[in-house]
Amino acid sequence: MRIAMGHLLAFLLGLVFEATSVFGIPSCSADGQIALYHSCNLTQVPQVPNTTINLLLSFNHIRVVNATSFPLLEKLRLLELGTQYTPLIIEREAFRNLPNLTVLDIGYSHIQFLHTDAFQGLPNLIELRLFYCGFSDSILKDGYFRNLSSLAILDLSKNHIQSLHLHPSFGDLESLESIDLSRNEISLVCERDLEPLQGKRFSMFNLASNSLYRSISVNWEKCMNPFKSMFLEILDVSDNGWTVDIIRDFGHAINGTKISSLLLDRHIMGAGFGFHNIKEPDQGTFAALGMSSVINMDISHGYIFSLNFHLFETLKELKVLDISHNKVNKIAKEAFYGLDSLQALNLSYNLLGELYESDFYGLRKVAYIDLQKNHIGVIQEKTFKHLKNLKTLDLRDNAIKTVNFLPNLNTSFLSGNKLVSFQNVQIIAEFLDLAQNRLENLNDLYTLLQTPGLKFLILNQNRFSFCHQQYSPLKNHTLEQLYLSENMLQLVWQAGSCWDVFKRLSHLKALFLNNNYLDFLPPGVFSDLTALQILSLDGNRLTSLSPGVLPENLRVLLLSHNHLLSPDPTIFASLSHLGITHNKYICECETRNFILWLNQTNVTMFGSPEDVYCTYPDSFSGVSLYSISTEGCDEEEALKLINFSLFLFFTTTLTLFLTAVVMFTKFRGHCFFLWHKMVLRLVFKDHPQGVEEDQHKYDAYLCFSNKDFGWVQNALLTHLDSRYNSENRFNLCFEERDFLPGEDHISNIQDAIWSSRKTICIVTRHFLKDGWCIEAFNFAQSRYFSDLKDVLIMVVAGSLSQYQLMKYPPIRVFVQRQPYLRWPEDLQDVGWFLNKLSQCILTKKEEKKKSNNIPLQTVATIS
Ligand SMILES: *[C@@H]1O[C@H](CO)[C@@H](O)[C@H](O)[C@H]1NC(C)=O
Ligand SMILES: *[C@@H]1O[C@H](CO)[C@@H](O)[C@H](O)[C@H]1NC(C)=O
Ligand SMILES: *[C@@H]1O[C@H](CO)[C@@H](O)[C@H](O)[C@H]1NC(C)=O
Ligand SMILES: *[C@@H]1O[C@H](CO)[C@@H](O)[C@H](O)[C@H]1NC(C)=O
Ligand SMILES: *[C@@H]1O[C@H](CO)[C@@H](O)[C@H](O)[C@H]1NC(C)=O
Ligand SMILES: *[C@@H]1O[C@H](CO)[C@@H](O)[C@H](O)[C@H]1NC(C)=O
Ligand SMILES: *[C@@H]1O[C@H](CO)[C@@H](O)[C@H](O)[C@H]1NC(C)=O
Ligand SMILES: *[C@@H]1O[C@H](CO)[C@@H](O)[C@H](O)[C@H]1NC(C)=O
Ligand SMILES: *[C@@H]1O[C@H](CO)[C@@H](O)[C@H](O)[C@H]1NC(C)=O
Ligand SMILES: *[C@@H]1O[C@H](CO)[C@@H](O)[C@H](O)[C@H]1NC(C)=O
Ligand SMILES: *[C@@H]1O[C@H](CO)[C@@H](O)[C@H](O)[C@H]1NC(C)=O
Repeated sequence: MRIAMGHLLAFLLGLVFEATSVFGIPSCSADGQIALYHSCNLTQVPQVPNTTINLLLSFNHIRVVNATSFPLLEKLRLLELGTQYTPLIIEREAFRNLPNLTVLDIGYSHIQFLHTDAFQGLPNLIELRLFYCGFSDSILKDGYFRNLSSLAILDLSKNHIQSLHLHPSFGDLESLESIDLSRNEISLVCERDLEPLQGKRFSMFNLASNSLYRSISVNWEKCMNPFKSMFLEILDVSDNGWTVDIIRDFGHAINGTKISSLLLDRHIMGAGFGFHNIKEPDQGTFAALGMSSVINMDISHGYIFSLNFHLFETLKELKVLDISHNKVNKIAKEAFYGLDSLQALNLSYNLLGELYESDFYGLRKVAYIDLQKNHIGVIQEKTFKHLKNLKTLDLRDNAIKTVNFLPNLNTSFLSGNKLVSFQNVQIIAEFLDLAQNRLENLNDLYTLLQTPGLKFLILNQNRFSFCHQQYSPLKNHTLEQLYLSENMLQLVWQAGSCWDVFKRLSHLKALFLNNNYLDFLPPGVFSDLTALQILSLDGNRLTSLSPGVLPENLRVLLLSHNHLLSPDPTIFASLSHLGITHNKYICECETRNFILWLNQTNVTMFGSPEDVYCTYPDSFSGVSLYSISTEGCDEEEALKLINFSLFLFFTTTLTLFLTAVVMFTKFRGHCFFLWHKMVLRLVFKDHPQGVEEDQHKYDAYLCFSNKDFGWVQNALLTHLDSRYNSENRFNLCFEERDFLPGEDHISNIQDAIWSSRKTICIVTRHFLKDGWCIEAFNFAQSRYFSDLKDVLIMVVAGSLSQYQLMKYPPIRVFVQRQPYLRWPEDLQDVGWFLNKLSQCILTKKEEKKKSNNIPLQTVATIS
């Protein structure tokens, strides 16, 4: 699992080195070093340059190779001749023109005739692949491999070899160290058969899947030790259907032969679950193997139900024991007694239901216990605590509900269990995998972050959806990677809680927040993540990112499958890699900067350019942003400049200027933007900061388009405003009644906002078309950024889509920051809605944080 995470990071960072194709040349051609002739309908060896190093001729119809088939190719190292569609005849010294050949592959061909001297003249051949060629015993008996003084690896698997009578010349193969005889039909191997190999050392001797010793009754006294005076690093005798008796007898027969790794997996030891007719291994089964100094033993994939008393007692040197994929349900007393050197125990994929204190008795040196995929629900508290060297415990996919048994470990895998809470738990770990549990309270994350030395924390696929805690511990956390994918952080953050969850994570390098339904990022949420390099926000619902929200040293950002409309490319300045496919881009001139940036940026993009496509407007839907020209937008750029000079010209009378601008409705946005920038500066310089709560003249300023007056009066004013009905509780302010006639409109709006506790904007189609309304909205919102008072309440009425709202920068900023109210479609919900709105008017929302880390300038530059 840890390796997998490492891979992911390596993958994210290493995509730069993508290979274009395996060989880089087209089939049926040669480029001087590689000649690639797969499936080229060849009937004979093609002419290739004498500089060729690799010659690949598989999947053809070559019938005969003889001594003149190949021209002299002194450089050739690899020849693949396997998988011919016609029977192949190999004549005497067929490869003698290839003196430097090191790998010869004829596998998967039907060999019709093979001359005894076919392989002569290959002094440098190291590897010979002859798997699945239909060979019988004679391939070993008749001396085909004479003089192959460099041959190290011989693959004869998947043939029809029945007995092993080796030609005496095998004794001369000084280099031979790996022989694969798996999947043949060898039923018996005795001392006499392998005599030529005595005294040799093998890195691999593979006899798997042969029904060895199984179909006949073996007279071991006559047969004796087939591996006499050999040294075997790996002896693979798996999948031969070995029973308890065969293993015991085999162990006695090979008494003393040194074997480092003995693979006995896919055996038929053990009663399984609910049967009794097959013997369980016992104290005598592996006893004789003690003399072979086995270090690694694999008895996985079988039917062992019960690990019996002193089962492994003679295996003093065993370091790795794999019992996975059996049916182990019982661990008898002292079952592991004697495994004094054991370091890794694999009990995964068994039927264990509970673990007792005595179960792992005797495992003094064990460092890794793998118990994944059992049914463990109960673990006695001291089960692991006496295992002083235990570093890694894998309990994935069990049914664990508490972690009180967890000793001090380096690494704990606990994903796929039933953990609900981490309150009042103290653990020590460097790597903690808690994915796929049932954690729902984000407070648990604060608790987990207290874990001393914690570097990796995986919390994917939990149910985090609420949180109460807000505190910052004094010390910096050590955490380096945090995985929070597929939770529901949106619910936590939209309730306004725990925006400080990433505080003090100053060592964090990678953060995964993908698939959390996020439609906004709390301001400053990443501000402490100074070391962060990788951030995944894939699969959320973000419509935009405000400048400054991303950590400054970020290198890799994943933002695919969001709802981004028109991203500002300046926020990607620090990146080396970016994933930004499958968003909802608006292909209008406002996205111009992003489109231009995409075309010329050095940032490496994940995914294909086709997946960076427009969603709006309909005429561009599905078109790649890379294939759009921004030329038409240059004219508008010029118009912008004209507007600017107009602005200078009319500067003396602001009102006059605005009147002119209202006439130029099309370019209204730009003018408001410039004008607004100036007014904001004036206002914030002059206005007394922070009016006392009690001094507010109104409860709320209701801002709406005057075209909506009738509707607002019926729907809201008559139910809320005390002057409409004395039973109503609120003292509201709105333009039609409360604005001073003669005073300029801007001052009226400002006064209304400053003298009201809240500003309610009724956003409708008319509202969006009314520059004054947008401006009032913007102004109310700016109080949030200037004196951290959240005075703005947004109510959307009528059928306005998210897209339509998002086209207005101030509204976009608001929506990113917090939820808004929607006028109910159903009449019967109106009462509930008015209640909710009343609550909003009454709640005091003040940011506690003093740090004003969003400068005023931001408000202006967001557009
Ligand atoms: C090989 O022959 C088949 C059938 O005659 C033909 O369809 C195919 O294109 C040929 N391939 C090459 C590489 O010539
Ligand atoms: C390859 O053949 C050319 C002539 O065709 C010859 O000059 C050259 O020496 C040969 N190279 C090797 C490595 O045999
Ligand atoms: C090799 O085979 C070809 C035909 O496949 C034949 O013409 C040639 O004489 C043979 N050479 C030898 C040395 O047998
Ligand atoms: C065989 O390969 C080795 C190593 O590349 C090279 O030194 C040697 O000259 C080659 N022999 C021939 C006959 O080309
Ligand atoms: C190949 O082996 C045969 C018989 O084992 C032997 O007579 C011959 O001299 C060997 N050839 C070479 C080149 O070593
Ligand atoms: C194995 O060989 C040793 C001597 O090397 C001998 O003492 C012992 O009895 C033998 N064990 C078996 C089970 O044959
Ligand atoms: C234990 O065995 C399982 C199943 O074969 C395997 O997936 C797992 O990687 C093994 N664990 C260790 C620590 O090797
Ligand atoms: C924990 O495991 C990691 C990776 O396996 C290793 O680098 C680190 O040194 C270990 N820490 C301890 C305290 O054993
Ligand atoms: C915590 O990390 C920040 C940023 O790296 C650093 O400025 C501060 O000194 C650290 N504080 C402690 C207590 O280590
Ligand atoms: C892209 O890389 C080139 C060369 O490394 C550099 O000159 C150029 O400024 C880079 N462009 C950007 C946008 O970073
Ligand atoms: C992308 O850049 C190239 C030159 O760097 C330019 O020729 C091309 O028109 C640009 N494409 C777009 C869509 O801007």
